[in-house]
Amino acid sequence: MTHKRGIENGFAIPPEGPVDLFRLTRAFEYSRAFQIANSIDVFTELHAGALTLTDLATRTKVEAKDLECVLIVNAALGLLLTDGEKWCNSLLADKHLVKGKPEYIGDAVWLTGNWWQRFDELGKSMAEQHGLPTEAERHPRFIEAMNDYASSGEGEEVAELLDLSGRRHLLDLGGGPGTYSSYLCDANPDLRVTVFDLPETEPVFSKTVAARGLTDRITFKAGDLETDDLGSGYDAALVSNMMHGSRGDIIPPKVFRALEPGGIIIIRDFILRTEKDGPLAAAMFNMRMGAYTEDEIYDFLHQAGFRHCEVIEQGDQTIITAHKP
Ligand SMILES: C[S@@+](CC[C@H](N)C(=O)[O-])C[C@H]1O[C@@H](n2cnc3c(N)ncnc32)[C@H](O)[C@@H]1O
Repeated sequence: MTHKRGIENGFAIPPEGPVDLFRLTRAFEYSRAFQIANSIDVFTELHAGALTLTDLATRTKVEAKDLECVLIVNAALGLLLTDGEKWCNSLLADKHLVKGKPEYIGDAVWLTGNWWQRFDELGKSMAEQHGLPTEAERHPRFIEAMNDYASSGEGEEVAELLDLSGRRHLLDLGGGPGTYSSYLCDANPDLRVTVFDLPETEPVFSKTVAARGLTDRITFKAGDLETDDLGSGYDAALVSNMMHGSRGDIIPPKVFRALEPGGIIIIRDFILRTEKDGPLAAAMFNMRMGAYTEDEIYDFLHQAGFRHCEVIEQGDQTIITAHKP
């Protein structure tokens, strides 16, 4: 049997590896954000000229906070332009997505938005028939998912990008399965790591670290970062996929206290550009969980006492490092 090969929607068809499979499973996110913007007439309202978020929220009759998430994804897709204050249509959006224009195709976009409902309902119904994961299964599966990402290229890439030479004891805050720690230990033979995470993470952590033969160098410290002490004496801290939601003012001060003078904090996350026009992966993450902009992260780090921020782009993610004086 032969397959038609090519690149569609940013991934190879048929998929050629885990990265294509990750893109395939996430393709709905930007598609849905585009449909939502079209369904609430964002492009039509912006035809007359650039608007602030507040004005556009008033005209489209939706919550400004929700609207902003949708606008950011559409800006990352190149359908909107923004300087962080006002929003306007791209040339393409203005030509094809404004009601009343001769080349308007927004009704077709609206129609596919209705198809989405059918996919969603069918998915829910079939998952219920098949059997949903129990509550007890959810956390281990989430931690396994973190291992899936980290062991499919991300971990190696992070270890290559970070210079941890001379560092002895790394705190991997919310380190989950310990996969990033494993790659960092492989690349830095003198490094040992403490993974700090919720107690229910430990079984998957133990399995993953044992499979990589690193139980003597990577240990688990159970705790809740919001209420428990992180320990002390670390000269480096990795904060990977943890600085989002509403944790910005909690994590940097706690890590600052746990680090020795001269210690480095490494924040790795989906981080928005300060203008809020992307990157696309961060824009989509922002719709799900809430992402900070680069400037917001710098502010959190400075307020905690860190200095000398540096930025490293790592694929879909951004790494920001800073030092405790
Ligand atoms: C998105 S995962 C990131 C895992 C890993 N750092 C990575 O980049 O793949 C978030 C991790 O934080 C842990 N976590 C969530 N809330 C926590 C809390 N309050 N205290 C400690 N760990 C927490 C989760 O168990 C999970 O391992």
